[in-house]
Amino acid sequence: MMETSKSERLQKILASAGIGSRRYCERLIVEGRVTVDGKQIDSLGTKADPEHSKITVDGKPLGTMEVCLTLMLNKPVGVVTTLSDPQGRPSIKDCIPKEYAALRLYPVGRLDMDTSGLLLLTNDGDLAYRVMHPKHEVTKWYQAEVTGTLKEQTLQRLRTGVLLDDGLTAPAEVQVQGQRENRTVVLIGIREGRNRQVRRMFAAVKCRVVFLKRLAIGPLKLGDLGKGECRPLSNQELDELTRVLQED
Ligand code: URA
Repeated sequence: MMETSKSERLQKILASAGIGSRRYCERLIVEGRVTVDGKQIDSLGTKADPEHSKITVDGKPLGTMEVCLTLMLNKPVGVVTTLSDPQGRPSIKDCIPKEYAALRLYPVGRLDMDTSGLLLLTNDGDLAYRVMHPKHEVTKWYQAEVTGTLKEQTLQRLRTGVLLDDGLTAPAEVQVQGQRENRTVVLIGIREGRNRQVRRMFAAVKCRVVFLKRLAIGPLKLGDLGKGECRPLSNQELDELTRVLQED
């Protein structure tokens, strides 16, 4: 392995090549997925010369590989789910750290401007297609605060399906989490992804959504990710998601 005056830490070289964040690249190294001049590296102190060393990740030489990356974003309210906005409103592009700019990540589906929470960003077209495809029926979980109180009969209508202008909704999972003054907090899980679906479902039962946040997509949970923050999915999360997407 060649170390010259131009040597840099391996995780910095990988991150600069657009593989992902430094932390993500450190993980690749520790997992033994990186080689330098044919030698497998598993220590974070390793340096290499990016111009002269032959570096591979998962057997693929740096610079020739198409890097697939999927990030989880906690989208704030007031941000549009597009990569640019002709009206100049804040967009999710402003939330993507610069180190990922070269990877051309795009959103998987969308959240309304006034909805916050879990949004996936990826450059893996196959993964995006499968998460969105209705046949996989990945449940998206939302916390909604709605006006009024919900009778058992209303909850049952939401569960079995309500008629919207684009047809009857598929069965949903609905649980009341709390009640304060004239507001109800509801956890709702839907398997479809129609435009403004949750808001329209509640409108159909005469409630207005005053707060809406997506908490989970299938096995992926937002957890305590800060507002406006992004992180790559862990290998375990990717495995769990892949497993769900394989179930037909
Ligand atoms: N349902 C909605 O009404 N809005 C969203 O952003 C997502 C689901």
